[in-house]
Amino acid sequence: MTKAEVRIRALEDADIGDITALDEKLMGEYRPEVWERRLGYYLRRDPESSTVAEVDGRVVGFMLGEVRSGEFGLEEPTGWIEVLGVDPDYRGNAIGRRLAERVLASFAALGAKSVRTLVDEEMAGIADFFTALGFQAATLRPFIKKL
Ligand SMILES: CC(C)(COP(=O)(O)OP(=O)(O)OC[C@H]1O[C@@H](n2cnc3c(N)ncnc32)[C@H](O)[C@@H]1OP(=O)(O)O)[C@@H](O)C(=O)NCCC(=O)NCCS
Repeated sequence: MTKAEVRIRALEDADIGDITALDEKLMGEYRPEVWERRLGYYLRRDPESSTVAEVDGRVVGFMLGEVRSGEFGLEEPTGWIEVLGVDPDYRGNAIGRRLAERVLASFAALGAKSVRTLVDEEMAGIADFFTALGFQAATLRPFIKKL
């Protein structure tokens, strides 16, 4: 696959169907209401930062996030990468890297001084992906309590 075949662009309303199908392929469940709500949120909050990769008119990867400040004791504006996925048939072609480049440039343009994400160590490969992109383990740790 050549770089030219992959188009990296801002998320659009019309991507809901493709992203729902990609999520079903990744997670094994068809969840149209979840994606309608989730993508609606990102489109309203910050349509420029959330990014998709398109090949032959179909979305094969996406990265969603936004800039926030004042949370978890982090006063400075911080970009958060919250959801990402690349179609397994297209992995290893720098699509994840190119999605991140666009998302990070958008966060920086919105005044973010750093970018953060949370990685579940049980999800193989995601920590390696972020490490390859220059992310380092941080001191902010998630705490959990069952309800
Ligand atoms: C993590 C993920 C986004 C990577 O996408 P990708 O397009 O294959 O990544 P890239 O080709 O851009 O890789 C970028 C760098 O990360 C590294 N990398 C990517 N996946 C890796 C893996 N599984 N193990 C080790 N390194 C990895 C690559 O080697 C590359 O490093 P380099 O540029 O130094 O050579 C993709 O594997 C994925 O979608 N995983 C599942 C995510 C998921 O489950 N989402 C649903 C819940 S949110």
